[in-house]
This record gives sequence, structure tokens and C-alpha cells, in this order.
Amino acid sequence: MSCTVIVGGFFGDEGKGKIVAHIAHKDRPAIISRGGVGPNAGHTVMKGATEYGVRMVPSGFIYPDARLCIGAGVLVDPRVFLHEVDMLGVRGRIFVDGRCGIIEEEHIARDRGSEHLRATIGSTGTGCGPANADRVMRTLRQAKDLPELADYITDVPLELNTAIDEGRVVLLEGTQGFGISLFYGTYPYVTSKDTSASQIAADNGVGPTRIDDVIVVFKAYPTRVGEGPFTTELSVTRSHEMGIEEYGTVTHRQRRIGQWDGAMARYSAMVNGCTQAAITGIDRVDEECFGATEYARLTPKAKEFVRQAEEDIGVPVTLISTGPEVSQIVDLRGEI
Ligand code: IMP
Ligand code: MG
Repeated sequence: MSCTVIVGGFFGDEGKGKIVAHIAHKDRPAIISRGGVGPNAGHTVMKGATEYGVRMVPSGFIYPDARLCIGAGVLVDPRVFLHEVDMLGVRGRIFVDGRCGIIEEEHIARDRGSEHLRATIGSTGTGCGPANADRVMRTLRQAKDLPELADYITDVPLELNTAIDEGRVVLLEGTQGFGISLFYGTYPYVTSKDTSASQIAADNGVGPTRIDDVIVVFKAYPTRVGEGPFTTELSVTRSHEMGIEEYGTVTHRQRRIGQWDGAMARYSAMVNGCTQAAITGIDRVDEECFGATEYARLTPKAKEFVRQAEEDIGVPVTLISTGPEVSQIVDLRGEI
């Protein structure tokens, strides 16, 4: 197992960041590289009492021995990127493909000024949609054109494929979630690019034959921010009764909460070519599971939830997250 893609199976915010961080500490990758749209994504990674919210730097930054990359498919907002590099102290080990598209202030203004994007679609207002539109029109600047990014530029596909050739471990980190894919999601209530595993591989310049595993991350209680259909959505009153309340990392908007959607999980696993699944938030199914690190410590209710999810998805659930901290996880990967 050398090259793994990790993607979100529902509407984003499934806890991919935490799964990536766990796998990184365990599998010791040489490189962790990010695909996905751009700084519209927010990853929350918790280590001890410290919570990190990142938008440009791969969430695998928390594992100190990996080189970090941002693939050519990703849009870079240089202001956000340089701020995070400083804040996290990752200079010297983070690199950006020279072909990444650049988000300008003007894209942010267009995103926020557009009634359609802001009000109807509920965009994050980070400039991604307008920048991808300009990218398609071939008027966008690239990372290699910016002097302030000169120290960070690399050829991401060359680095990744060389590492794979050498038998080293590589993680390709996706952002967003399947339900907001431009191709397969609930169009027009979607983001400005596909979000499936194939896209994440393409963003990084890694061909489909080189991917060994696709881990799709599903949230026990899926969430959605912004507008659009959400079949299994719970009322705000009901979700509050259940003690579930979440806010977006980027926009701080309240997330809509839903129940497990077996049909969506199955379809998402199919299009993603899922080989293993991760379930996050199992402590919401039964709070007695909070912090468990062994399968035996999960309650019958939680085990039944996992069994049903496996039946829906059609592949083994190998990672079960039991709390926000990186260490709070049941890892069954060695046991299948
Ligand atoms: P945009 O990607 O900012 O244009 O927003 C389009 C839609 O995708 C909106 O409903 C956003 O809330 C949603 N969205 C974009 N990125 C993310 C993400 O990382 N997590 C969850 N929702 C997202
Ligand atoms: Mg997020």
C-alpha cells in the first residue's frame, strides 16, 4: 500500500483532516499532497487542547516528518497560504505546484458581490467559483507568476510519482465532499469542481493506475453548509435535542445536520471507487463510545451502526473515529 486517496463521502466536513492526521502518524508518509478546490475548504485538526483550522495547508501538516504539497488542480490564495505557512511554521517543507491557479482580491469581490453565488448557492465567498471560471477562460495567473511564492514552487506530479516509484508512502488528501461535486453533486448547489477521488488524483498529477487505496470518509450524522437538497436533514430542534450543533470552519455558518443516508453512501462509494471506509462521529450514535481505541469497546448500538454502514457501502469500515482528537480512533486496517 503506497498511494492512498482520502475523500469525503457526504457534503464535506466529514472529519477528513483528523483521518489524514491519524493515518499520517501511523503510516509515516513521505509526502502528503492536497487536491480539491481551494481555500473554500476548512479542515479542523485537533492535537491535545489545540484546535487548528486550515484552508490551504494540507491537514497532514500535523505529522512533522512529511513533505507537504498542493497539487496543480488547486486554487491558491497567496494571502491565506502565506499566513498559514507562518502560523504553522511549515516553511521549508511545504511546496506548491507552479501551475496552481491564483485567487485575486477581485475574485473574492465577485464571489461576494454575486447574488447568485452568495445568496442562491450559498458560496463560501472565498473567490473559488469566479477563479475557476477565469481558469477555464484561460485568463488566470498561475503560482509560478508570483514572486512571493517563488520559494515554494515545485513539480508536484514529478515529486509524487518519484516517491511512488521508490515505494514510499504517499497520501493524497481531498477536500469538500461528494455531494457538492460539480459533476455528481446536487447541481447547481455545488462547488466549482468535481470532488471525487479521480479528481483528487488528477489535481495531483497521479494517474489512476498508481492509486492503491481510496478511503472515503463518512460522518455518522452528515452535515451540509450552504443551500441545496439534503434528503435526511433533521430539524434544528431535533438536532439540538440530540446535542448536535456545528459551525463551519471557513464561514462560521451553522451546519445543517442529517441522519445517515445509506443510498447516498452507496452511490458515493461507487463513484469514488472506495476500497475502505472511515466513519467519524460514532460517539454521536452512542456517547459511551467516546474516546474508544478498540473495536471491543464499542457498544452493540455502535457496532450495529457500523455493520449497516458496511452493508450500504459494500466495503469494510476500517477506521472509526470516536472523538475529535487524533488519538481517538479505532483502526482496523491491519485486520482485514
Ligand atoms: P463555493 O465552493 O465557495 O463556491 O461554495 C459552493 C457550495 O459548496 C456552498 O454550499 C458551500 O457551502 C459549499 N462548500 C464549499 N467548500 C466546502 C467545504 O469545504 N465544506 C463544506 N461545504 C463546502
Ligand atoms: Mg471543512
